[in-house]
Amino acid sequence: MGGEETVSGGGTDLKRVCAKDLCCYKIPLFRSWFQGLIVLCLLVFVSSLGFSDSALSWSENLHRHFYGVFNQSRQMNAPAYRVHPKHKAILDEINKNAESSGEHPGGLQYHQAYPRNYQFVMDNAEVCKNNTPFLVLMVPVEPENVAARDAIRQTWGKDTVVQDKVVLTLFMLGLREGGDVEGLRQENEQHHDLIQSNFMDTYLNLTIKTMVIMDWLATRCPTAAYAMKVDSDMFLNIDNLVIMLKTPGIPKMNYLTGMLMWNRPVVRSKNSKWYVPEELYPDSRYPTYTLGMGYVFSNDLPAKFVEVSKAIKPFNIEDAYIGMCIKKLGLSPTSPPNPSQFRAYNSKYNRCEFSKIITYILGSSEQLKNYWADYKKPGPHC
Ligand SMILES: *[C@@H]1O[C@H](CO)[C@@H](O)[C@H](O)[C@H]1NC(C)=O
Ligand SMILES: *[C@@H]1O[C@H](CO)[C@@H](O)[C@H](O)[C@H]1NC(C)=O
Repeated sequence: MGGEETVSGGGTDLKRVCAKDLCCYKIPLFRSWFQGLIVLCLLVFVSSLGFSDSALSWSENLHRHFYGVFNQSRQMNAPAYRVHPKHKAILDEINKNAESSGEHPGGLQYHQAYPRNYQFVMDNAEVCKNNTPFLVLMVPVEPENVAARDAIRQTWGKDTVVQDKVVLTLFMLGLREGGDVEGLRQENEQHHDLIQSNFMDTYLNLTIKTMVIMDWLATRCPTAAYAMKVDSDMFLNIDNLVIMLKTPGIPKMNYLTGMLMWNRPVVRSKNSKWYVPEELYPDSRYPTYTLGMGYVFSNDLPAKFVEVSKAIKPFNIEDAYIGMCIKKLGLSPTSPPNPSQFRAYNSKYNRCEFSKIITYILGSSEQLKNYWADYKKPGPHC
């Protein structure tokens, strides 16, 4: 966001200079004026390149936080494709699905990110029937990451009533080759909070994971008022979130909010974790979207996202994909009442600050437990 402001701010200043220069030149000087204009335009172009580079690395840093660390060893062991291996994997999937779409029984319908191509292995369908929630927190997490789930269960996922409202916290998992099926079954028997679907739980499949979350909300929990997709490495001030959603004037429908990303450039550098090939997403910029670390929405939207996603080619950046869905619905994300409550960086713990925010990115589950314990201590926060 800061980077983006610099870009547009710089552009405006240059435009102002341009306009001032124009009125000072007289007609006989047209030729040199014209040459000057060309030089100036070149300068604008070159400097905008510089700006967008820094904006890119800025957004990469943000993404690094919430997409976790990519498994380097796997990347290095991959065979040398002419296209980037990640790129190839995505294209292979698309081609495979295009061939099998609709034609063959059992073949994928629509495309890979369409959630109804997958089946729930565990769905805890009863959790929303017993007690209609005001807010459902959906946390995508790797199947083996029990530590993250336990930390959340002990902290912001602990209370089922927050500010007099029913809040549910559930974890969304895919399948892992050689995963601990029995361990997960027992964990779910104890907590009744695991949703698992039969897609492979990989980094490139995060868009599927998000869309399966949407499918679950639409079909297993349609009576909830609001939902949030929140990453497992977040500090979530759940009280402040519920207070925000209870604020008079917060829409009950077609509402999507969080940290808004405007006009973000698509990463085309093949070494980047957020690389998206032109074949998957041709435009150079994303529509306005909410940063994936934590976005909040009225619970009428999941069904609409699932429906509209049939017509949107999947790509591997889940939050920008939701941005495409909301755009296709003719809607757009809304700024939260207090945008500074959605923070996408981690700095030192500050009890006062953590009492005011809604999201904050953390480094580990240990941090979450420690900060939470301190934040919950009695006494003034500031
Ligand atoms: C990385 O991938 C390799 C091979 O796929 C696997 O053996 C290893 O456990 C993975 N490491 C992490 C940290 O996920
Ligand atoms: C994504 O999940 C599908 C369905 O399980 C699987 O066939 C595919 O290999 C996965 N794709 C990647 C890139 O992991």
